[in-house]
Amino acid sequence: QAVVAIVPAAGIGSRMGADRPKQYLEVCGQSILAHTLDRLLSHPQISQVIVALHPDDDIFDSLPQAIHPKLIKVLGGGERADSVLAALQLAPQNSWALVHDAARPCLTAADIDKLLASRGQFPQGAILAMPVRDTMKRANQLGGIGTTVCRDDLWHALTPQLFPTGQLKGYLNAAMAAGAVVTDEASAMEWAGISPGLVSGRADNIKVTHPDDLGLAELFLMRALS
Ligand code: CTP
Ligand code: MG
Repeated sequence: QAVVAIVPAAGIGSRMGADRPKQYLEVCGQSILAHTLDRLLSHPQISQVIVALHPDDDIFDSLPQAIHPKLIKVLGGGERADSVLAALQLAPQNSWALVHDAARPCLTAADIDKLLASRGQFPQGAILAMPVRDTMKRANQLGGIGTTVCRDDLWHALTPQLFPTGQLKGYLNAAMAAGAVVTDEASAMEWAGISPGLVSGRADNIKVTHPDDLGLAELFLMRALS
């Protein structure tokens, strides 16, 4: 079965607060989105990359990756899930959808391989994730510590997240229509009663969110590209 990468890249980067959407900020010689696309376009098992863009986007077409034969662009939507759904419309029904945030440029081929290899163990799909390392606290209403939360079974959800395209499309649509909180693909599958796999991924696969993250992404990319 074909593997199609879906890249939501229609956000505006409000927490970054830069002069353009964060996926177009430069690190290590090219924009964050260009790095992300390179990682996906160069993977031999990924046959197509569908990128969802903001309607006002006037930068994407200037990227060298824009004319790559594997690349297709679509208009994204108001929420991340809307952007993913728009891209899924163009994915073949019996493929696997590998959804990856535009804002995670430090993804490695080894992590993609690991996630793809997990399909035997998790035929309904899986996500890259990382065990929580810090002690976790739940705050009380006064802003103090209420309780310490046991971290033994807590994971950070990362991307890529890999699911059968038809199922993902159906459950994302249904979960959104039902007003469920859908912050990643796995949450739509969970809403449908499915329990996706957790595949332990690299800690440097960060999502560039705040200005401090730019330096980290640069460091990780420099290490990977050298
Ligand atoms: N995204 C999208 N469509 C949206 C919102 C987000 O395609 N309507 C994408 C972003 O471009 C990003 C990914 O989803 O690659 C993860 O979202 P996030 O890190 O929250 O990015 P932004 O929404 O752009 O940032 P912020 O929340 O700070 O505004
Ligand atoms: Mg956002």
